[in-house]
Amino acid sequence: MADCQMRFSRKNPVFAFHFFLFISVFCSLARLCSAAYTLAQGQSMPDGETLVSDGQDFELGFFSPENSTSRFVGIWYRNIPVKTYTWVANRESPISDKAGVLTIGSDGNLVVLNGNKSLVWSSNASGVSENSTAILNEKGNLILSSSDSVGDINKAYWQSFDNPTDTYLPGMRVVVNRAKGENPAFTSWKSDNNPSRGNYSLGLDPRGSPQIVIWEGSRRRWRSGPWNSQIFTGVPNMSSTLLYGFRLSNEDDDGNRYFTYVPFNTSDEMMFRIRWDGFEEQLRWEEDNNRWGVMQSQPASTNECELYNKCGNFSVCSSWESPICSCLEGFQPSHWDQWRERNWSGGCSRKTPLQCQRNSSEEDGFVGVKSVKLPDFADLLPPEGDADNCKERCLSNCTCTAYAYISGIGCLVWNGELLDVQHFTKGGSTLFIRLAHSDLGGGKSISTVLIVIIAIIGAALLGVFFCLAWRFKSKLKILPTSTPVAWLRNNEVPPLDARNSADISTELSGSVDLGIESSKVNGELPLFNFNFVAVATNNFSEENKLGQGGFGPVYKGMLPGGQEIAVKRLSRKSGQGVEEFKNEIILIAKLQHRNLVRLLGCCLEGEEKMLVYEYMPNKSLDSFLFDPEKQGLLDWRKRYAIIEGIARGLLYLHRDSRLRIIHRDLKASNILLDEDMNPKISDFGMARIFGGNQNEANTNRVVGTYGYMSPEYAMEGLFSVKSDVYSFGVLLLEIVSGRRNTSYRLTEYASLLGFAWHLWTEGKAMELVDPSMAETCTRNEALRCIQVGMLCVQDSPGYRPTMSSVVLMLESETANLPLPRQPTFTSMRGSVDTDFYSEGHDYASLNDLTVTMMVDGR
Ligand SMILES: *[C@@H]1O[C@H](CO)[C@@H](O)[C@H](O)[C@H]1NC(C)=O
Ligand SMILES: *[C@@H]1O[C@H](CO)[C@@H](O)[C@H](O)[C@H]1NC(C)=O
Ligand SMILES: *[C@@H]1O[C@H](CO)[C@@H](O)[C@H](O)[C@H]1NC(C)=O
Ligand SMILES: *[C@@H]1O[C@H](CO)[C@@H](O)[C@H](O)[C@H]1NC(C)=O
Ligand SMILES: *[C@@H]1O[C@H](CO)[C@@H](O)[C@H](O)[C@H]1NC(C)=O
Ligand SMILES: *[C@@H]1O[C@H](CO)[C@@H](O)[C@H](O)[C@H]1NC(C)=O
Ligand SMILES: *[C@@H]1O[C@H](CO)[C@@H](O)[C@H](O)[C@H]1NC(C)=O
Ligand SMILES: *[C@@H]1O[C@H](CO)[C@@H](O)[C@H](O)[C@H]1NC(C)=O
Ligand SMILES: *[C@@H]1O[C@H](CO)[C@@H](O)[C@H](O)[C@H]1NC(C)=O
Ligand SMILES: *[C@@H]1O[C@H](CO)[C@@H](O)[C@H](O)[C@H]1NC(C)=O
Ligand SMILES: *[C@@H]1O[C@H](CO)[C@@H](O)[C@H](O)[C@H]1NC(C)=O
Repeated sequence: MADCQMRFSRKNPVFAFHFFLFISVFCSLARLCSAAYTLAQGQSMPDGETLVSDGQDFELGFFSPENSTSRFVGIWYRNIPVKTYTWVANRESPISDKAGVLTIGSDGNLVVLNGNKSLVWSSNASGVSENSTAILNEKGNLILSSSDSVGDINKAYWQSFDNPTDTYLPGMRVVVNRAKGENPAFTSWKSDNNPSRGNYSLGLDPRGSPQIVIWEGSRRRWRSGPWNSQIFTGVPNMSSTLLYGFRLSNEDDDGNRYFTYVPFNTSDEMMFRIRWDGFEEQLRWEEDNNRWGVMQSQPASTNECELYNKCGNFSVCSSWESPICSCLEGFQPSHWDQWRERNWSGGCSRKTPLQCQRNSSEEDGFVGVKSVKLPDFADLLPPEGDADNCKERCLSNCTCTAYAYISGIGCLVWNGELLDVQHFTKGGSTLFIRLAHSDLGGGKSISTVLIVIIAIIGAALLGVFFCLAWRFKSKLKILPTSTPVAWLRNNEVPPLDARNSADISTELSGSVDLGIESSKVNGELPLFNFNFVAVATNNFSEENKLGQGGFGPVYKGMLPGGQEIAVKRLSRKSGQGVEEFKNEIILIAKLQHRNLVRLLGCCLEGEEKMLVYEYMPNKSLDSFLFDPEKQGLLDWRKRYAIIEGIARGLLYLHRDSRLRIIHRDLKASNILLDEDMNPKISDFGMARIFGGNQNEANTNRVVGTYGYMSPEYAMEGLFSVKSDVYSFGVLLLEIVSGRRNTSYRLTEYASLLGFAWHLWTEGKAMELVDPSMAETCTRNEALRCIQVGMLCVQDSPGYRPTMSSVVLMLESETANLPLPRQPTFTSMRGSVDTDFYSEGHDYASLNDLTVTMMVDGR
């Protein structure tokens, strides 16, 4: 009874304790005691009483907004002192006095009645049983279902999460359905203290790839840009912590897909809300400050370009330019006079009509615009072919004005006007605009001139840079004892005199901006001097240390321009360092692929050898995959994208790059993740170049990691592209299962492979799937992945598929896969693999554990 009273609180103290009143209150308490957060048929909740959710977080009852006397039925946070209403029932029909009552009507619907018992609001669901019950669940969802399935969302006739007001709470699902069109699910309050429908709504537009839209009435006010299965592409600031939570389900039988959001930390109180003044906010309750913290807000109030189609049709908005609006290439202002007066509403129009519009023999072409928010109203073409195919498909349709080939989405095309294009300083997508042949010509000559100018400046800077580098080197020779390392030991940063700063800035522009290009030309790589790297990494401080890899520590650094880098400093102790270093540096310089980590430069001074890479904010795959706290962040979509990315990167190494390269140490810790969780293969240190047709070699040094090594490599030192395929198979099974191959060492199956084979033969392969993402997992894809994984880890290299067939098998939904043979070999004999970035892991005794094993072969 005490518990019951606590949950069923009376807000307004009753001063006159009439005996009869007391009895009736007692009765109503007693009635609700069986389930204190439910309202059953025949029960009613008068103004002043509340229902409290299971878990005590939410409360349902009558309230008046600040400065208002009108009464509304709503749900609010019970434990948060700032009154925050997450849902309102009778938002359009307030009750003027405190005589209202919430009850379940005779038709079984939830109803709000006023003092004279007339209907103010009804849940108005059809097919409701006459004996129904409402329950307020722990997520703040008010659910109406029949009395024998209380609280079962799947059998609910009606629920507040399906009929939200202005607030999205975690656990809600927002429907996207191509056939049904736009879904403005959330509508703002009219003002801060009036919950009736305001001017703004927030919801989803399913066209092309789904995007979030804010409407003002029926006009668009802001949009997020299409979802690429990881982020909304038009929100370049959508940081990885923010994007973690969004998920879009696959289409169900009714064509519905559902957007959900799971907070990074599920114990956070968090919500999204469309404010009465038209701004969408993501709020998180800050216990310490006792207020709602705004994590992000759209449209950004400081950036005019965020407002929908600010500059009109066929134009582009760049917030940092003045004026902010300009026409897209090949277009000119429709009305020069208005445009000059900064009235952008007329937009721009095409200078020369397209080929099909004017009977010409000259074929149209495309001009690429980088780093933009893609225009609105994209159409998604059926998935087939690549970027070139996308271009052809656009060219073949006269109405097509632009296309973009976006990874994670596919081929998007635009028919008609290009609206709401925004330029970003970083991130964004590349849009290809269709132009008449003559408009292309002009652009081309300008860009040719630019390229020539850039090339000349680049060559000049490069010359200056090499000259300075040479001078710096010769300066070092004069100081035999005072090597850069000696400076470091004394914990002093070498003084940055004027000469040195000049060095650095030259190096910056020379190496970062132009060095990569130049490396392609003459096989050289930008060279950083030691001094410079020391400053960038804060003198190799412990705070900057990202982890300890096989060949030495890795530090985070920042170039003066703000670009983040990862510096791998080869420890001189590791005997094998020199050879691998040279290998790595020559190889990586020649390799460019989106799934390979990019080498920005290196540093070779005295005994110091360092590699400078692009920085990967999300560290390595194993830091997510094998961490129980974080593995839930990798849902099936992301994992599948990671598998495909690794496969493509490896295929490039094996086949597509000019050199045939075998990685030889592919493992989870060598897969780094960028801010969008795209995988990048790192550590080519052990790869070897193959000449011509040679596809198998014998080595007298076996380098690799137990658990990922193929039988022929571990036992005989034979390596080939098929040994990489084996490692890929192990990695694939690890990604699907979320377990290390080696973690089964002590069980009856001896390895993940053994266990997978066991489940596979029993027909229970789905049990291998990581439970933390089982619900986002697509059965067919998972089974296909497991089968491909099993094919890759077959004992005999001859049976294993090549990476090109692996890519095909992963991508084709219909292909009939061969049946795998049982893997009998396991290469676990007590070793631990380590990380490129191993932050937060247990590598204290690294020296005792051999990371990469070296065996003298035959
Ligand atoms: C309520 O009224 C007070 C005094 O007029 C005012 O300061 C406050 O901002 C009002 N609150 C809201 C939410 O309108
Ligand atoms: C309902 O009751 C109010 C007073 O509470 C009264 O003013 C109003 O006329 C009544 N309406 C109807 C339809 O009876
Ligand atoms: C209830 O739904 C019916 C159609 O299902 C609609 O005609 C009616 O206006 C709705 N009533 C309310 C109060 O929303
Ligand atoms: C409604 O269902 C509940 C539980 O199934 C039952 O106890 C109650 O008697 C039913 N009431 C009516 C009016 O059928
Ligand atoms: C909503 O629209 C009306 C009519 O256009 C306007 O008067 C009012 O100021 C708008 N309210 C807000 C909050 O923008
Ligand atoms: C992104 O963030 C930067 C700084 O954090 C800010 O200057 C910029 O305006 C933001 N861009 C957008 C589109 O919100
Ligand atoms: C989640 O938040 C709670 C309280 O806000 C905190 O104690 C906990 O450490 C957080 N968990 C993680 C994984 O950040
Ligand atoms: C801008 O131009 C449009 C016509 O394109 C016109 O209707 C509108 O009044 C102009 N706005 C201003 C502020 O001049
Ligand atoms: C801009 O494009 C939209 C959508 O195609 C069209 O409705 C509108 O009329 C265009 N505006 C102008 C000024 O041409
Ligand atoms: C377009 O070209 C066709 C054949 O090349 C010709 O018959 C037709 O008259 C042309 N139309 C115009 C408007 O030039
Ligand atoms: C060209 O695109 C339009 C708009 O999407 C479409 O209706 C039409 O069928 C397409 N034509 C061809 C030949 O594909």
